Amino acid sequence: MQTLRKLRPLAIGLATYVLPESRFGHGGVETAEADYCYSVLMRHAARLQEQGLNPFQGTIAELGPGAGLGVGIGALMLGAENYIGLDLIDYDCWKSNADIFDKLLPYIKEQREIPNGGAFINVKPELQNHAFPEALFSDENFDRLMDDARIAKLREEVSAPGGRIRYAAPWMEDKDIKPEGIHWIYSQAVLEHVDDLENTYRLSAEWLEPGGFISHQIDFKSHGFAPEWNGHWKYPEPVWKLVRGKRKYAINRAPASTHISLIEKYGLEIVYAQPVPMTNSDGGVPPQKLAQPFKSMNDNDQMTSGLFVIARKPL
Ligand SMILES: C[S@@+](CC[C@H](N)C(=O)[O-])C[C@H]1O[C@@H](n2cnc3c(N)ncnc32)[C@H](O)[C@@H]1O
Repeated sequence: MQTLRKLRPLAIGLATYVLPESRFGHGGVETAEADYCYSVLMRHAARLQEQGLNPFQGTIAELGPGAGLGVGIGALMLGAENYIGLDLIDYDCWKSNADIFDKLLPYIKEQREIPNGGAFINVKPELQNHAFPEALFSDENFDRLMDDARIAKLREEVSAPGGRIRYAAPWMEDKDIKPEGIHWIYSQAVLEHVDDLENTYRLSAEWLEPGGFISHQIDFKSHGFAPEWNGHWKYPEPVWKLVRGKRKYAINRAPASTHISLIEKYGLEIVYAQPVPMTNSDGGVPPQKLAQPFKSMNDNDQMTSGLFVIARKPL
């Protein structure tokens, strides 16, 4: 039974070579739900606000929005001017924008508590305080944002291409983003899937305006590619290639320090980092049984299962 569990990821990887891609699904379905989008948006906003950063200005960009653009639509409601969604896979989001807009509006208008516990127990970054980060808005500014005429116009503008939303998938071929034109770049559960991390951080740094910032929640766990939380690090590269199979994306297996190094390499300053620690008692593969180069990772990387990071481009 145990052996079957261990071989399952390899069997699925091999199956991707013979079965149609549609059999394997693409993930990213949570962003079709307004409460999830609100929870993600306000978690990033709360952490940014603590650092004196206001995400709801200028043009913002999201990496890997998945099935719905609700996180970005919420940010537009709260004052961002334009939103760019950049995914690898085209989820054909336009048809759901108006619906998610309507479902999100009451959460924002009523400044509801950030959804937590229950279905949201694993949503990160973890917060101690789930109150709406009202310090980002004066009463007068918030009333102006929620003005009926503004909201009705915005609903129209997000419902079709050519308005305040631009969606590029696959985004790697998109050449239209101007350097220094973006105020905030963010992602939720995406950067562990991106194959070309180097290029992603390089472009992000290029796109940010001076003083602009990134916030990313990254999950270093095995995502079903192994039974143990860190089991993806036990495969030598040739075996990993088979486990990954022909999928359009899987996980890149990069640990926390790779992200931190790339952020710094491209000239951004880390403002805040919130790691998610694991211990050996969490059922992981012992470090000595990992494959190289993971066996030689530092202790922090070995024990870090997630990271929320904020970094800023100097003025
Ligand atoms: C686990 S889903 C997360 C979706 C969404 N952010 C959420 O919070 O549910 C991963 C997303 O990353 C996207 N993705 C994978 N590789 C990518 C890449 N290189 N660039 C941008 N998005 C990518 C996938 O298409 C998918 O939408």
